[in-house]
Amino acid sequence: MYDNQNQLRFNKVLLHICSMLQKLQRKWKVNGTSLLLILITFALGGSACGIVGRKLMAFTGIEKGLLWGLVYIIVLTIIWPLCVLVISIPMGQFAFFKKYIAKLVRRFGGRSQSAANEKKPSTRMAIFASGNGSNAATLIQYFKKDPEVEIALVLCNKPGAGVIKVAADEGIETLMIEKERFYNGDAYVPALQALQINWIVLAGFLWKVPPVLIQHWPSAIFNIHPALLPKFGGKGMYGAKVHQAVIDAKETESGISIHFVDEQYDHGAVIFQAPCAVLPDDTHQTLANRIQELEHRHFPEQIARIIKSKKLVK
Ligand code: GRF
Repeated sequence: MYDNQNQLRFNKVLLHICSMLQKLQRKWKVNGTSLLLILITFALGGSACGIVGRKLMAFTGIEKGLLWGLVYIIVLTIIWPLCVLVISIPMGQFAFFKKYIAKLVRRFGGRSQSAANEKKPSTRMAIFASGNGSNAATLIQYFKKDPEVEIALVLCNKPGAGVIKVAADEGIETLMIEKERFYNGDAYVPALQALQINWIVLAGFLWKVPPVLIQHWPSAIFNIHPALLPKFGGKGMYGAKVHQAVIDAKETESGISIHFVDEQYDHGAVIFQAPCAVLPDDTHQTLANRIQELEHRHFPEQIARIIKSKKLVK
């Protein structure tokens, strides 16, 4: 009986800890491994800060007392961010802590008075995707390092799509969308507005974007297409079909196109293209692999370039 009660209490505590960790994961938008490394960094950073702080205090020659306490607090406040940042480097968490400490400095600097009006990154992006999510993953990894950009939402229309796991692993909210609401309802505009989304990226999204979305986000919706538009684009041109069409047409060159989205499939102004060779023995799969490599190399950089240049103009 007594043992059972202890076991129950232990289970409760365990559940509580798990739910706290999940909350942190969602808040910081990190995967499980990163969360563990972040917590270790906090622990090691705190200990290092204590050790260094006491050593520095010994130098000052101040007697223990009120003044000693005050100076010690000031010293800790100054060296804690440094200790944590240094330790975050071997932990591979420097990008996270840079962002975290910048946020703390902003908060204590008085620019933000409370968590409620805490300043969010000014660039807030949503990704529409329904495939494996490899491009979504490269975008997420790339913009993680940019404190001014937050990927706040992934919208998906295909249950079980790989991109859902990609988003979940990074603690990014996912919204499953339905055709009826997308075309005949609010098109998810209020959901996007609630998160203050100002840029939308299609990364493997096959539905045509409804006019209402384009009107709300003019020149702020991008798509990536795995061929050199205007060739091999349009309705039904996706995935292996694109690459097979390129091979069947005996093209010697294919590539990627990043373009603004308008009301037609694969049609808006092209922002960037990168070519690659089509080899005589290519199958749609070998060509797809070469193209995917180009996508991952260029997509995040090009999106970042456009976002930054538009911000300068605004
Ligand atoms: C990419 O090839 C992209 O060009 C196209 O859809 C594919 C998505 O692949 N629009 P993934 O899901 O990002 O791996």
